[in-house]
Amino acid sequence: MSVSLGIPQIRSAGPAPSPAPARAGLVDRHGRRATDLRLSVIDKCNLRCTYCMPADGLAWLPAAQLMTPAEITRLVTVGVDRLGITELRLTGGEPLVRGDLEEIIAAVRAGHPGLPISLTTNGIGLTTRAPALAAAGLSRINISLDSLDAATFRALARRDRLAQVLAGAEAAAAAGLSPVKINAVLMAGINDHEAPALLAWALERGFALRFIEQMPLDADHGWTREEMVTAAQIRARLTTRFRLTPHPGARDGAPAQLWDVHPGPGDDAGGGPLGTVGIIASVTEPFCGDCKRTRITAEGRIRSCLFSHEEVDLLELLRAGATDAELAERWQAAMWVKPVAHGMERPGLDSPDYVQPARSMSAIGG
Ligand code: GTP
Ligand code: 5AD
Ligand code: SF4
Repeated sequence: MSVSLGIPQIRSAGPAPSPAPARAGLVDRHGRRATDLRLSVIDKCNLRCTYCMPADGLAWLPAAQLMTPAEITRLVTVGVDRLGITELRLTGGEPLVRGDLEEIIAAVRAGHPGLPISLTTNGIGLTTRAPALAAAGLSRINISLDSLDAATFRALARRDRLAQVLAGAEAAAAAGLSPVKINAVLMAGINDHEAPALLAWALERGFALRFIEQMPLDADHGWTREEMVTAAQIRARLTTRFRLTPHPGARDGAPAQLWDVHPGPGDDAGGGPLGTVGIIASVTEPFCGDCKRTRITAEGRIRSCLFSHEEVDLLELLRAGATDAELAERWQAAMWVKPVAHGMERPGLDSPDYVQPARSMSAIGG
C-alpha cells in the first residue's frame, strides 16, 4: 500500500494573490525578507523515519516531474540575481538518492562561484560520494542521526543503516565539508535518554550537533505533544553530564539556538568550552518572526513556509517559456503571502491556529 502525497492548493498561472512590492526581493506582508533558499531535489527517501514517512513510503513523483539540473540552476539564478538569495540548501526526501546530485551542484556552482551551497542528508552513500560532492562545489553538510544504538536506529528509521550513516559522517569530514552538522530528533522513551551520549560523540569528532523538537509533519499524523521532547527537557537531559552557557553572538534567524558546552560540575578542570550544541525548538520556542527561508519543492513549487497550505508552481511557468522577470515576479507574489507564524505554540493542535499541512516533511523538503 502506498499513501499519496497530500497535495495542497496549487496556484499556477493567473494574477498574483495580492500585490507584492516591485523589485524588493522576497519580502512578505510581515516585514521579513527571505534570503535562504531550501530547494528539494527529490521526494524519495531510502529510510522511513517514523516522524516523517509512513512504513510503506509515499507515492513518489514520476521522474519527468522532477527538476533537471538545468531547471534547478535557472531557478537558483533567478533567486540569486533578481531576488536577493544569498544561501542555497539542497534537501529531499533524500538528495543522495539522485544519482546526478554532483551534476546539479556543479551546474549551480559554475554560475555562482561565491554562493554557499549546503546539503541536508541522511548520510547514506557519503562514504563513496563525499569527495565528488566537495569537488563539485558543495560547501557544507547537515546529516540526520537520531541514535548511536543499532536497534534504536532501526526502530526509528525502519532500516538497519546505522553503520553507513556513521561512516558517512566521517567521510564528509574527511572530504573537507565543514562544518559537519548533525541533526537529531528526540522522541520520549525511544531515544531521548541518548542525548548526552550523542553530544559526547559529536564533540569528540568536532561535529556540530543540534537537537530538534519533533514537529507535527509526519505522514502518519501520529504526532503527540506527549511524545515530543521539548527544548527545556533536552537542556535538562544534557545538564546531567555537561554544563551549558548561552553561546555569544547573534542568532540571525537560524532555527538553532546555540549553547556552549562545558564539562559537568565534577569534571570541570577549567579551560574553554568543549564545543557547542544547538537546540531547534520549532514548537515550544518558535522563531517564525525572524524566518529568512523560501522553499522550492521537488516538483518546482514555491512554498513560503514549512507549514503553508498553498503552493505556487514555478516549474510549470518555466517549462511554458516564462522569462526570468516573470519567474521572479511569481516567486515574489508567493512569498508576499507567507503566513505570520505556524500557530503550534498553543497547547493542543486542535487549536484553530494550527492545521497540519497536507504534505509531510519529506514531501515538503525538510
Ligand atoms: P543551518 O543551520 O544553516 O545549517 O541549517 P538548518 O538548521 O536551517 O537546516 P537543516 O536542513 O539542517 O534543518 C534542521 C531543522 O531545522 C529541520 O529539521 C527543521 O526541524 C528545522 N527547520 C528548518 N527550516 C525550518 C522552518 O522554516 N521552520 C521551522 N519551524 N523549522 C525549520
Ligand atoms: N519534526 C522535526 N524534524 C523533522 N525532520 C523530519 N521530520 C521531522 C519532524 N516531523 C528532520 C530530519 C532532518 C531534517 C530534514 O528534518 O531529521 O534532519
Ligand atoms: Fe528520509 Fe529524512 Fe524523512 Fe528520515 S526524515 S524518512 S531520512 S526524508
